[in-house]
Amino acid sequence: MVVAGHPPPPGFAAQANVGPEVYAEAAADPFAFWAEQAGRLRWDRPWDTVFGDAQWPTARWFGGGRLNVAVNCVDRHVDAGHGDRVAMHWEGEPGDRRTVTYAQLQDDVCRLAHGLTELGIGAGDRVVLYLPVLVQTVVATMACARIGAVVSLVFGGFSADALRFRVADTGAKLLIASDGQFRRGRAVGVKAAADEAVAGLDHVEHVLVVRRTGETDVPWTPGRDVWWHELLAGQSTQHEAASFDAEHPLFIVYTSGTTGRPKGLVHTTGGYLTHASWTHWAVFDLKPDDVYWCQADLAWVTAHTYVLYGPLSNGATQVVYEGSPLTPHPGRHFEVIERYRVSTYYTAPTLVRTFMKHGPELPAGHDLSSLRLLGSVGEAINPEAWRWLHEHVGGGRCPVVDTWWQSETGAAVVAPLPGVTTTKPGSATVPLPGMSATVVDDAGVETPPGVEGNLVITAPWPGMARTVWGDHDRFVSSYWAPYAAQGWYLAGDSASRDEDGYIWIGGRIDDVLNISGHRLSSIELESALVSHPRVAEAAVVGAPDDVTGQRIVAFVITRDAPGADDTGLAAELRAHVAARVGAVAKPREVVVVTDLPKTRSGKIMRRLVADLTAGRAGGDTTSLTDPAALGVVQRAWTAHVEARPGGG
Ligand code: PRX
Repeated sequence: MVVAGHPPPPGFAAQANVGPEVYAEAAADPFAFWAEQAGRLRWDRPWDTVFGDAQWPTARWFGGGRLNVAVNCVDRHVDAGHGDRVAMHWEGEPGDRRTVTYAQLQDDVCRLAHGLTELGIGAGDRVVLYLPVLVQTVVATMACARIGAVVSLVFGGFSADALRFRVADTGAKLLIASDGQFRRGRAVGVKAAADEAVAGLDHVEHVLVVRRTGETDVPWTPGRDVWWHELLAGQSTQHEAASFDAEHPLFIVYTSGTTGRPKGLVHTTGGYLTHASWTHWAVFDLKPDDVYWCQADLAWVTAHTYVLYGPLSNGATQVVYEGSPLTPHPGRHFEVIERYRVSTYYTAPTLVRTFMKHGPELPAGHDLSSLRLLGSVGEAINPEAWRWLHEHVGGGRCPVVDTWWQSETGAAVVAPLPGVTTTKPGSATVPLPGMSATVVDDAGVETPPGVEGNLVITAPWPGMARTVWGDHDRFVSSYWAPYAAQGWYLAGDSASRDEDGYIWIGGRIDDVLNISGHRLSSIELESALVSHPRVAEAAVVGAPDDVTGQRIVAFVITRDAPGADDTGLAAELRAHVAARVGAVAKPREVVVVTDLPKTRSGKIMRRLVADLTAGRAGGDTTSLTDPAALGVVQRAWTAHVEARPGGG
């Protein structure tokens, strides 16, 4: 395949933070390279060793070093005389706005640090955040880091059940929630869901509540519940920050794996911050006068690294937007770019495809001349969407950085450097300096150009997750066991490399779905479905979708009597999954079947079902107990497609 490349515009290359020589420098001595990047941070005690692997695959970076993440992300900039620099242009979904400088952020972080201490939170304690994208959410992450508390952010769209799992799994002492949140223009209460999530969990000592929507009759448990504004009132803005070991845990981010139980990936302090900070500076070519905007919700890993820890450690000025990109109109993002003169816009392919549906008039109606760099993350960006973003949003002048990484990797791994790398629409290009990744077959042999294999990372990197919270064996077996002999990390994505060594990411090799850039596990969704009284068995697959990349299709065998009326079942199951997991996990389509293809050991062969929904020719069916089951599913799917509005 010959793909026309986009070299960096000469003007961009001339001013870029990072030049081409860095690849060779980093390759010559990756540890020295990362040590140099760690030097961009403020350390209270220098490290003794850059890297240690005595507990491999748990790595130890910057052993012996001590630092404070909040000091690096906030105080350092104030001390350098940038207290008046805007840290955040925050905008709420209803249109309310707040500008927060680094000095103001420091005041709030210090006040909350005192408040948290007053609530009995100390180093190593877990704090779960169930909050919208608010200034307070940023303050809370920084205040936790300041006192060494380990934070875990849970997406506000997740259900009480999903929240409860995370609160219980972390053994959190504190939950920070809001009275309510805005969802596509509507204020909805969330405190009741927060209460339900913590009911009976004795380790939760307090629920700290941020007033956001001004709900009346917020359910309240005296003694346990505390208002944020009351806790902060009267607290001092002076706070002595302790320093923490480079391997002190910083946050736990939950992600879907191949079982029904989400994995809590643990990220630590010195290595993670080094990786987050350098890649943010290099990949987004951050300049002091940039207005940077990463549109991800703070609870996703994207925002941990490229809204919270990366940009703040670099003293960036960012836009932080609370709401839906389509509320109150589909041009909201372009309006925001115009209002704040955004220079760097980091977005997701699914959103680009949504904008594309509205046509180029949507961005054309706004002054987007401030943009100089565009970014994409979450799934492979199809070349059409890449070109549309490049042309209609970036006016053809802005490099596009397609960044491949994962919750596990902590920060970007395969991505272009915007002033150096020639980009090819649809490829995340090549591993960043200091990173080693390639594509291999099951035996660990590099695949020839154009041949799909497994994406692996072949050398340790500072942002790598250190373990799965409470389940180290799972960390080892999920990522490290398949290539234990080589000591490589298995990413779980298929990929190929072209003649130029560019990496093209395919799909997941496991039962993980990617819906609008969100990772969901087939098995987790199937467990939610079979917990409904009418469902006996379920197979959940991702069918290709023009906008969301994949869409969830659930095939269910019901407990209903043969020939029973299925009307309303789909709606019932969608609501059930939303309540168990969250609205993001609702199946788009529900197809009732009488059988599912299974192996002799009883495992449902989702891949064959997924092939049907994608219109691919059937794969190997020799291991099926009853090959006729596939025909049953095929007929049900065909009938379902024909019955859809517009038929097929
Ligand atoms: O399949 C890959 C896809 O998203 C997965 C990671 O999901 P998560 O841990 O939720 O992190 C998402 C944001 C970092 C990967 O295994 N993915 C992410 N970015 C890309 C991508 N696939 C292709 N190209 C990308 N740029």
